Amino acid sequence: MTQPFSYADAHVFVAGGTSGINLGIAQAFARAGAKVSVLSRSQAKVDAAVAQLRELGPDAAGFAADVREYAAVEAALREAHERFGKIDVLVSGAAGNFPAPALGMSANAFKTVVDIDLLGTFNVVRAAFEFLRQPGASVINISAPQAFQPMELQMHVCAAKAGVDMITRVGAIEFGPAGIRVNSVVPGPIAHTEGMKRLAPTKELAQIVSDSVPLRRFGEDSEIADACLWLGSKMAAYVTGAVIPVDGGWSLGGTAVSGDGLKKAFIAMSKAQA
Ligand code: NAP
Ligand code: COA
Repeated sequence: MTQPFSYADAHVFVAGGTSGINLGIAQAFARAGAKVSVLSRSQAKVDAAVAQLRELGPDAAGFAADVREYAAVEAALREAHERFGKIDVLVSGAAGNFPAPALGMSANAFKTVVDIDLLGTFNVVRAAFEFLRQPGASVINISAPQAFQPMELQMHVCAAKAGVDMITRVGAIEFGPAGIRVNSVVPGPIAHTEGMKRLAPTKELAQIVSDSVPLRRFGEDSEIADACLWLGSKMAAYVTGAVIPVDGGWSLGGTAVSGDGLKKAFIAMSKAQA
């Protein structure tokens, strides 16, 4: 298929863009012609991602930094801006997750996930503002169904991602006058990802999760990337403050799935963790 979107001359910054879904997003923008910057903690992952992105697109840069540290995030964004110019699309997708009941996690365990997912998203969006193209930039926060679907063993992620979607909505209101759009993309269960390895670690659990999706399959990272290519483009010029599930209908929950698939999946997960 021909490339439906062109990002020639664009600069795309992906926080957490060195593996999984976010790397898939970074790769899609590189293929569409963008210069891509990625940021994550591990220098080795950053180097590997940059090497791949340079094969696909015009140029790429990488920064080893923790989204929990505002000054480090700001320095990375400043350097990326010096290198590739104003940021046209900012993706904030760094996240941490582990399944644990509330009573099985310490206050620091809860805080760790909130700090990475929620404070990290604030840091990325707040620090990027001065480097975003105004008007015209598109900010895309990577959320999760946990933001609106309560899930056992996920109190930390549910709280953090609900907050991420509120950053999206308030950001859309506050940044709208500068011509900056802010939206959330909500991936469903995506194949071959760290997230699903942690939440559905066995074949049996993966099958239960897949059976609970109305489209009866896991998603691909390219399908999340396609939504981001659209959201970053002029085709989505009047879309802001939206929380957009790209999840095969998964977040509809029990009303759309046959039987009580979703519930069964999480009871099974909870038993597996016990
Ligand atoms: P992943 O491969 O583990 O990606 C997480 C990325 O964030 C990595 O590049 C990681 O690199 C980086 N990261 C983690 N902590 C960081 C920190 N403190 N500072 C900077 N970077 C950090 O996970 P994934 O499963 O593809 O998930 C990607 C996104 O999709 C997440 O936002 C997740 O919540 C969302 N999501 C995933 C699924 C799914 O099915 N997998 C479903 C719904 C939503 P380093 O280790 O180098 O820091
Ligand atoms: N159950 C309960 N608590 C857990 C846990 C688990 N499975 N895993 C970690 N924790 C706790 C730790 O015990 C610690 O709490 P404590 O200080 O009270 O003992 C706290 O969480 C922080 O752990 P630490 O390993 O120091 O955090 P970190 O900042 O190095 O790593 C994580 C963050 C834990 C989220 C780590 O899994 C990570 O880096 N994840 C990134 C990749 C990922 O999660 N991908 C999926 C995205 S959907």
